[in-house]
Amino acid sequence: MDEQGQSITVVEMQPKHIEALERLEQECFSTPWSFDALVSELSNPLAVFRVAELDGEVAGYVGMHHIVDEGYICNIAVFSQYRRRGVATSLMQALDDYARENDMASISLEVRESNQIAQQFYEKFDFEVVGHRKHFYANPTEDALIMTRSYGGLF
Ligand SMILES: CC(C)(COP(=O)(O)OP(=O)(O)OC[C@H]1O[C@@H](n2cnc3c(N)ncnc32)[C@H](O)[C@@H]1OP(=O)(O)O)[C@@H](O)C(=O)NCCC(=O)NCCS
Repeated sequence: MDEQGQSITVVEMQPKHIEALERLEQECFSTPWSFDALVSELSNPLAVFRVAELDGEVAGYVGMHHIVDEGYICNIAVFSQYRRRGVATSLMQALDDYARENDMASISLEVRESNQIAQQFYEKFDFEVVGHRKHFYANPTEDALIMTRSYGGLF
């Protein structure tokens, strides 16, 4: 349940979600993933894509690639009307469960230097800044911070 009494359910991404996720990408990002790019993840064996539904409606999604024992988060986004209700938290918890069940060593991601909200979100989940990529983003050009969360072991 979120703070307004609606129930958040996290499920695997399915074909029926793609149209809404294309809209979400367009709402959130200056270089959004296309419909076809999202569809191709449905058959990508490395893809761990999860969708959060609030009372049956698509509220947000997260996409991760699982390579050997490392995860790489491609994107996480929540429709603006559903933000600050724990939707992204539910999505990250689903990835966290997946990482532990699959003995992953770490999860990494890039985030715009100016995207303080996302950085605060990741810090809440113990991601730490481990590097910097110059001019990683376009529209507008901006550096990326590389953030990683480690799951013990050698890391
Ligand atoms: C970042 C994003 C996914 C967070 O989604 P959300 O569902 O609103 O997040 P939650 O409600 O689960 O918030 C969890 C925590 O994140 C942080 N957070 C989320 N929104 C915040 C805000 N507006 N200001 C400050 N901290 C914020 C807080 O620590 C929050 O915990 P709290 O509510 O106990 O304070 C959402 O803002 C979004 O879609 N942004 C646009 C897309 C984007 O920037 N994606 C990241 C690309 S790298």
